[in-house]
Amino acid sequence: MDKKALMEKARYAAKFSYSPYSNVKVGAAVLCKNQKIYTGTNIENASFGATVCAERVALFKAVSEGEKDFLEIAVTHIPCGICRQVLSEFAPNLIVHVKNGDDIITYKLSDLLPNAFSNKNF
Ligand code: THU
Repeated sequence: MDKKALMEKARYAAKFSYSPYSNVKVGAAVLCKNQKIYTGTNIENASFGATVCAERVALFKAVSEGEKDFLEIAVTHIPCGICRQVLSEFAPNLIVHVKNGDDIITYKLSDLLPNAFSNKNF
């Protein structure tokens, strides 16, 4: 799928952001190997640590419906460290498209998170 189209889905998802504390509206859209797309947005909480990022909402929606093979994700903001780690659990080779003004910068997750934690190392 075209990265611009995937980013448009991420941007649309950001419209549903529940972010009364930060006012930062983040959207994500993850593309599965079977070409299905799952979107997510950040959902904040009065107990700040309970907030969930857009990328994790998108990924967990997909995983909870049986998807485990991911190709690409588009995100309106650069993913945080926790989301990088969570994405690497399922897709260490994921392609990550990040909005940068009117442009899109594309990264490999393995470049954004070298040496991800894995309990397979023990
Ligand atoms: N946020 C995300 O949705 N994804 C990230 O990778 C970084 C941060 C959200 C969490 C919070 O609601 C807001 O952005 C400000 O930190």
